[in-house]
Amino acid sequence: MIAYASRTGNVRHIFLQLGLPGIEIRGDTTVGEPFLLLTYTDGLGEVPPVVEVFMNRNGAYCRGVVASGNRNFGHAHFGRAGDLIAERWNVPLVRKLELRGFPRDYEAIRQFYLERIGEGSGREREIVFASEQ
Ligand SMILES: Cc1cc2nc3c(=O)[nH]c(=O)nc-3n(C[C@H](O)[C@H](O)[C@H](O)COP(=O)(O)O)c2cc1C
Repeated sequence: MIAYASRTGNVRHIFLQLGLPGIEIRGDTTVGEPFLLLTYTDGLGEVPPVVEVFMNRNGAYCRGVVASGNRNFGHAHFGRAGDLIAERWNVPLVRKLELRGFPRDYEAIRQFYLERIGEGSGREREIVFASEQ
């Protein structure tokens, strides 16, 4: 599944383009299956606090990260939430997108998902506890 966090709608837009199952991350979201994380970048190249909390709970199930950002924040900070998550959780940085990105980005993400997550066990996929849904 996809787990995404979106403050102003860009990441939500990306999620909706993918046509894949998923949930929006809330404060106490818990998942029980492998997921691909979609996040925006906050502060000055930081992981949004809500994502930090979510990953501390669920990071063991994370299989990859996609980060949206804005190049106006400078090269060092662009989409850096993705770099930080990839390093800390030892997962691939699948893609950095500027704002909503482009169709070719969605295709690459979908391909990664189908190869690395979508083929997972159906039994695992049924176990989802998403509060505040
Ligand atoms: C307060 C604030 C800080 C941001 N800091 C960064 C940053 O350091 N690096 C970056 O690439 N983008 C940064 N952004 C841009 C967002 O990550 C980008 O607009 C993203 O697409 C937002 O996704 P969302 O619409 O799903 O919330 C920042 C945006 C805001 C409002």
